[in-house]
Amino acid sequence: MTPPATTPVSLANLPTPLERLDRTSDLLGIDLWVKRDDLTGAALSGNKVRKLEYLCGEARGLGADTLITCGAVTSNHCRATAVAAARLGLASHLVLRGEEPAVPDGNLLLDRLVGAATTFITHEAWADRDAIMAGIAEQVRAEGRRPYVIPEGGSNAVGALGYRHAAEELAEQAAERGLDLGQVWHAVGSGGTTAGLALGFAGTGIQVRGVAVCDDAAYFDAVITRIVEPFGTDASWRVVEGYQGIGYAQATDEELAFHAAVARREGLILDPVYSGKAFRALCLEAQAGRVPTDRAIVFVHTGGIYGVFSFAAALASLPR
Ligand SMILES: Cc1ncc(COP(=O)(O)O)c(C=O)c1O
Repeated sequence: MTPPATTPVSLANLPTPLERLDRTSDLLGIDLWVKRDDLTGAALSGNKVRKLEYLCGEARGLGADTLITCGAVTSNHCRATAVAAARLGLASHLVLRGEEPAVPDGNLLLDRLVGAATTFITHEAWADRDAIMAGIAEQVRAEGRRPYVIPEGGSNAVGALGYRHAAEELAEQAAERGLDLGQVWHAVGSGGTTAGLALGFAGTGIQVRGVAVCDDAAYFDAVITRIVEPFGTDASWRVVEGYQGIGYAQATDEELAFHAAVARREGLILDPVYSGKAFRALCLEAQAGRVPTDRAIVFVHTGGIYGVFSFAAALASLPR
């Protein structure tokens, strides 16, 4: 297998800022920074946009006119794909796991606004998502159009190029500030971000720490190994587990109260599905003395702001 050589299209506002979290650093006794990948854009925001620069680059190179992908009804990846498609003058078709709500909100509302076609499937049918997307691609071809299928989360070797580049961007910013970068933390949902960072930091001694928001370390290690395999590089990472909580896209009041406390202390909005779980893991691991105190630690904020609104009722009922 050979690593992909894809010319990216420009979709994200790069480089994203690297900011120090002064009060949280003091609180935890570590030198904590945040890489603001939640600021890659507005409708086009979050980690998926970096992957989509390469995936859409490949789609364009192949002459595709329709992007097909899949995710949860509330998927950030699907929203980013739909917006990217519209930005590039392409059509999009999303396979969404879950029930169609009577009134769309959050990411789904944006999917609708940019004109994405949608197919809703059950949790049971999710196991067949690749076959379902292949079926839609066949239909698109039969209509005389040219489909390009993007796997769940944009997590394949081409998508990983986005985070290999992000690692280079971050290393440059750290060098400009004279930081001795020790660890880079982030959320893991489908493995592509971890894979790209691990490729980008291979051989540097900078440790990649991905926090599983669902499934477990063994599952993600296998997924990430598959993604990095074509590169033939000695990439390394560690998937941190134990912070998945009560389930994917679910959050306890204790977790939500933690996210609200961060919002008040730093003006940093974490989403309860991904970045909130990962940032909480980093803070609790630091409190337990399992994060280095003598080197800079970077948390990659991978976005997900529109997911906050799905938790409106629970967040509004937290004590003020
Ligand atoms: C906001 C956000 N953060 C993190 C992730 C996880 O990234 P990855 O799918 O590359 O593991 C996702 C997507 O799943 C996401 O939407």
